[in-house]
Amino acid sequence: MKITFYGHASLAIQIKDIHILVDPFISSNEKASHIDVNSLKADYILVTHAHQDHIADVESIAKRTGAVVISNFEIVNHFGKLDIEGHPMNHGGKWDFEFGTVKYVNAIHTSSFPDGSYGGQPGGFVIEGEHKNIYIAGDTALTYDMKLIPLQTKLDLAILPIGDNFTMGIDDAILASDFIECDKILGYHYDTFGYIEIDHEESKRKFFEKDKDLMLLEIGDFIEL
Ligand code: NI
Ligand code: MN
Repeated sequence: MKITFYGHASLAIQIKDIHILVDPFISSNEKASHIDVNSLKADYILVTHAHQDHIADVESIAKRTGAVVISNFEIVNHFGKLDIEGHPMNHGGKWDFEFGTVKYVNAIHTSSFPDGSYGGQPGGFVIEGEHKNIYIAGDTALTYDMKLIPLQTKLDLAILPIGDNFTMGIDDAILASDFIECDKILGYHYDTFGYIEIDHEESKRKFFEKDKDLMLLEIGDFIEL
């Protein structure tokens, strides 16, 4: 499993030869201006919630690639009206896709489209694929619901928001890491806007002091599990 960070909450996950994008917000992210969104491959696009900083490039990528949008019912319905194929889910449900199993799990946040219309309830994804299990939290507060995840899934990596203000900050992400019983964390949803700028060294040190590993990738860089 290869995981590439495209800035903010945008990720690419490659499992075998299947390409999955998550929350693509790239063309309008100044910090990701060196990424050519038109060159990204996608068989599936996972969308955690309807906010602009998570869906901005979904339509153009899906139309170019024919990717299937996996998200909550309301978001899939929204893109369906634009002739984009989708797989609707809702909280607590899981589905076996060709690349692995996806479960749509709770997140504490909001979810409206840029025009203010209802974007369903926000979520995160637990993906079990190619003998590796990951959790993509989406935009969320720290929540006790996270404790449910390790009851069923031994996580190899968790991708947690750490930018604070709109989501968890570093201290809550450390507690989330305890709740999900996973000490290997890839941080996202930081530095994009003034409200969510973080001190990288201090953030890593705080995780290190709890015997945990916080990875912060440069935009365009990847890790392999
Ligand atoms: Ni959001
Ligand atoms: Mn966001």
